Amino acid sequence: MELILGIDVGASGVKGALVDVKTGQIQGERYRIPTPKPATPEALSNAFAAVVDFFQYRGAVGCGFPAIVKDGIAYSAANIDSSWIGVNVEASFSRACGAVVYATNDADAAGLAEMRYGAGRGEQGVVILITIGTGLGSALFYRGMLIPNTELGHLLWKKNRPAEAFCSSAARERAKISRIRWAKRFNDYLHHLERLFSPTVFILGGGESKYFDQYAQFLNPQARVVPAQLLNNAGIIGAAVYASERSSQ
Ligand code: BGC
Repeated sequence: MELILGIDVGASGVKGALVDVKTGQIQGERYRIPTPKPATPEALSNAFAAVVDFFQYRGAVGCGFPAIVKDGIAYSAANIDSSWIGVNVEASFSRACGAVVYATNDADAAGLAEMRYGAGRGEQGVVILITIGTGLGSALFYRGMLIPNTELGHLLWKKNRPAEAFCSSAARERAKISRIRWAKRFNDYLHHLERLFSPTVFILGGGESKYFDQYAQFLNPQARVVPAQLLNNAGIIGAAVYASERSSQ
C-alpha cells in the first residue's frame, strides 16, 4: 500500500484524504474545511496547511487546484481570488505546510482518477470529463493520455460569456431554473463539444454527478454520457495519483 495525501482545493471547500494510490481507495476519513473568502494566496495556503496538519502527514502532497496550473504556477482565477494569477501554487502551499506539494488543475486531477479507477477505465478513444460545480472544469484524454488545462468551461458561449456562466451548478442556482431546464442547456453544450472533439464518451463529474439519474434522459449527443464513478472524491484521489507520478519522475 502506498498512501499519499490528496487535497482538492475547491471554490467552496478544501478537502483532503489519504489515498492508496495502488487501488485508488481512500483510507480513513476525509477532512474538509470551508474555502476562505476571499480565497487569497495567504488565506488559502493557511487552509491547505490546516488540512495537511489534520493528517499529521509529511510525505509528498498532491493538490487539485481550480485554475490553469502550468509548471506549478496559476494562470487564471475564475472562482478564486484574482491575486493568484502568476503565483507559484506549489511553492506557496509547500511553504505553508512544510511538505513537498505537486499541483495540477482540479478537473485534470478528477480525470486522472476516473481514467485509472473509475468510469474511464480501459477507454482508448477521446474522453472528455466535465466537472459540474461552482465552475465548469474539463479534462481531455486520448488513448489514456491527458492534454492538460483544456478549460472547456471557458469556451465562449452566449453574449461573449463563458459556458460556465450558463451551464455550471452555480449558474443553475443563480438563474433559479429546474434541473430539467438546466439539462437542456447542458445538452446544447455537450453537442457543441461533440462538434469540436468527436469524443467516444463524456464523463460527468463534480457535485452535479450525484443527480445524474434526474437529467440523463435529456442528454443526447452521439457519444456515450456516463456519470463519474468516484463522485466528489475523484479530485482528491486524482491529486494523490498526480503527486505519486510526479514524485517518482
Ligand atoms: C476554472 C477551471 C476549473 C473549474 C472547476 C473553472 O472556472 O477555470 O480551471 O477546473 O472552474 O473548478
